[in-house]
Amino acid sequence: MYTDVVKGLSASPKSLPSKYFYDESGSELFDEITQLDEYYLTRTETQIMQQFSTEMAAEIGPRALLIELGSGSSEKTRTLLEHLEAPAGYIPVDISGDYLERVAHKLRLDHPGLPVLPLVADFTEPLVLAASTPLAARRIAYFPGSTIGNFPILEASRLLRRLRSVVGPNGGVLIGFDLVKSVETLEAAYNDASGVTARFNLNVLAHVNAALGADFDLGAFTHNAPFNTEASRIEMYLVSGRRQEVQLGDHAFSFEQGEPLLTEYSHKYTPDGFADLTSSAGLTATATWTDRGNLFCVQFLVPELP
Ligand code: SAH
Ligand code: AVI
Repeated sequence: MYTDVVKGLSASPKSLPSKYFYDESGSELFDEITQLDEYYLTRTETQIMQQFSTEMAAEIGPRALLIELGSGSSEKTRTLLEHLEAPAGYIPVDISGDYLERVAHKLRLDHPGLPVLPLVADFTEPLVLAASTPLAARRIAYFPGSTIGNFPILEASRLLRRLRSVVGPNGGVLIGFDLVKSVETLEAAYNDASGVTARFNLNVLAHVNAALGADFDLGAFTHNAPFNTEASRIEMYLVSGRRQEVQLGDHAFSFEQGEPLLTEYSHKYTPDGFADLTSSAGLTATATWTDRGNLFCVQFLVPELP
């Protein structure tokens, strides 16, 4: 984390990796975001999962091992698990360790008999599954929430290619991604009236302070998340309210008044744009599910034949 943060703050423009939003408070703040009226993503994807879980389970097949990337509260997964035929196990993978343990504990209570095997890991690094991982008819990577959108296209492609090798030639990837829509709807979702997203954004500074002993003044930065139409992404920033210096170990980082610190991208795809991305990773869609308003999309992907 120290190396990443020093690298990001030394760059021009300055940035911080979005994975550092997620300590325990960050995970809880994200859960609050999912309940906001403006944040249409979670409720729309949940509704797609509820409506089409039987079809999804049929694509996945029996005795599958489900590996979820960035599982968070695992709420949407519950719907899927209820429909899967004799799943071999569930491996929720998340960087937010304490939160992951809490969620896994609840899941075990609700699904006795299902091996729930949480893995605290950074999924941008190679995934190392335990030797004791249950044998399964098929491995399925589940990547909901539009978390794929938080990666620039090239990194997203590399990540999908790695998932393809994790699941193997007979595996599958069930993935959720957010669709392009009006700028007003998008900007409202990331600049909510009650300021929860602003608190979530500022939490990255609180996390860096707590974990690395930096001295960011959270009151001296403001949240801003415009939609960049050309790049088709929300860009989330913390803007320095004044000229200031931030201390981190032996480093001092100077901010100008009004200088932006980039904390997150959230890419929005057209169906064609997403097909280009998946095919660049050697994956092809065998099923596509959307809501009636075409706000969000879930696809089942399989490796293309070599
Ligand atoms: N899947 C949930 C949560 C999405 S929020 C949903 O759809 O609602 C993104 C989740 O990914 C968070 O729980 C966060 O802790 C996790 N995450 C983000 N970057 C990660 C990384 N590099 N490695 C592992 N987990 C990560
Ligand atoms: C986790 N990820 C998909 C969320 C998103 O919409 O890009 C994170 C988030 N950032 C601000 N609000 C929610």
